[in-house]
Amino acid sequence: TEQTTWSQRFESALHPAIAQFNASIGFDIELIEYDLTGSVAHAKMLAHTGIISAPEAEQLVNGLEQIRSEYRQGKFNPGIDAEDVHFAVERRLTELVGDVGKKLHTARSRNDQVGTDTRLYLRDQIRQIRTQLRQMQGVLLTLAESHVETLIPGYTHLQRAQPLSLAHHLLAYWEMVQRDWQRLGEIYQRVNISPLGCGALAGTTFPIDRHYSASLLDFGDVYRNSLDGVSDRDFAIEFLTAASLIMVHLSRLSEEIILWASQEFGFVTLKDNCSTGSSIMPQKKNPDVPELVRGKTGRVFGHLQAMLVLMKGLPLAYNKDLQEDKEALFDSVKTVKGCLEAMTILLREGLEFCPPRLASAVAEDFSNATDVADYLASKGVPFREAYNLVGKVVRTCLGAGKLLKDLTVLEWKEIHPAFEEDIYDAIAPNQVVSARNSYGGTGFEQVRRALAEAQERMVSL
Ligand code: ARG
Repeated sequence: TEQTTWSQRFESALHPAIAQFNASIGFDIELIEYDLTGSVAHAKMLAHTGIISAPEAEQLVNGLEQIRSEYRQGKFNPGIDAEDVHFAVERRLTELVGDVGKKLHTARSRNDQVGTDTRLYLRDQIRQIRTQLRQMQGVLLTLAESHVETLIPGYTHLQRAQPLSLAHHLLAYWEMVQRDWQRLGEIYQRVNISPLGCGALAGTTFPIDRHYSASLLDFGDVYRNSLDGVSDRDFAIEFLTAASLIMVHLSRLSEEIILWASQEFGFVTLKDNCSTGSSIMPQKKNPDVPELVRGKTGRVFGHLQAMLVLMKGLPLAYNKDLQEDKEALFDSVKTVKGCLEAMTILLREGLEFCPPRLASAVAEDFSNATDVADYLASKGVPFREAYNLVGKVVRTCLGAGKLLKDLTVLEWKEIHPAFEEDIYDAIAPNQVVSARNSYGGTGFEQVRRALAEAQERMVSL
């Protein structure tokens, strides 16, 4: 029969199945380094305020650091009897440094402790994810730079609409990632607040210095209300929202890559290093990477939903329900990091655009029809009138199996006397793209400006 921390209060031991059910050590071991760091700061604060002596604090800190090195060497593997990472550490600490280890938990509760650990963890993860977002932006930018003059059909309703510079298309994703990067930076401010010293719920009778421990841990602020401090998980929900949006963006890009890699589109080929074969169909080359990214999106959305539901009925302050926040966060972090890494590799070295296929795609459709209407409108024909006229031309061409570029000057003149020889230039794909030189448009000049600006915006903090 093991001794749990609180077993003096109880007459009999926990049912083994309940012990298992209650325990979080199986997953919250992920927090161990943050738990140790938080405890080191707490121990130093206890000495700083005279609640324990300096030599006692030193023993505690040394013991905690020893646990850190044991853990890093794979030698610290607490079992289910430890319940959670916090008890596991405290127990090992007491084994290592003796009775003084029992002083560590003075003026602290697991409630403010676990809140501190979770915030330290998430802070660290946000920094790592932001670095990954920057890496992906770098790869998107490099790819875009080499495809300013590669044209790709632009779609609305997945129907051919107007041709685009491929760089413009790629830069649209760069912008989404830029917002993801900014959003995580904003959320960081609210993750970076210390609940340490809120105690179980009401503060503590000891003369602690919360600002001191917060500054040791580089927190930007402290929670102003102890009840809020131990029970707030807004920061986790905000993170999951940002993580969900990252996944939305990755999933949209994935979907496009999957479409582009199909024989129907044929805009990209996936290289062998990023695609897989079939067990039965020898010809197959499957886009598993973007498919998995698209598929994993659901997990992160699910975790966001789970956290919202977890919180909605909780009375103040701490409730054991909150133990459920961890797997949602850990799995989301792991999923987002894994997807960002895979997508960055795919974009950098796993796919190749097919310029001939793209060039014929933009040349052999009616995606220059707007330009014919614009041509007439620029010669004084009211746009709606021009639009109707071109609609009729498109219908006739479709019936005759022709494209707009196949019409003779005579035919153009019959449609409207304002047409001149220069209509052919106006509807050539390169000109169609180049002419969309309005701010933020796909015109080559705009795209080059956007590329240069993106380069600068990436170095700014
Ligand atoms: N393992 C717990 C959690 O993850 C630690 C906090 C427990 N506090 C408590 N009062 N039971 O939330």
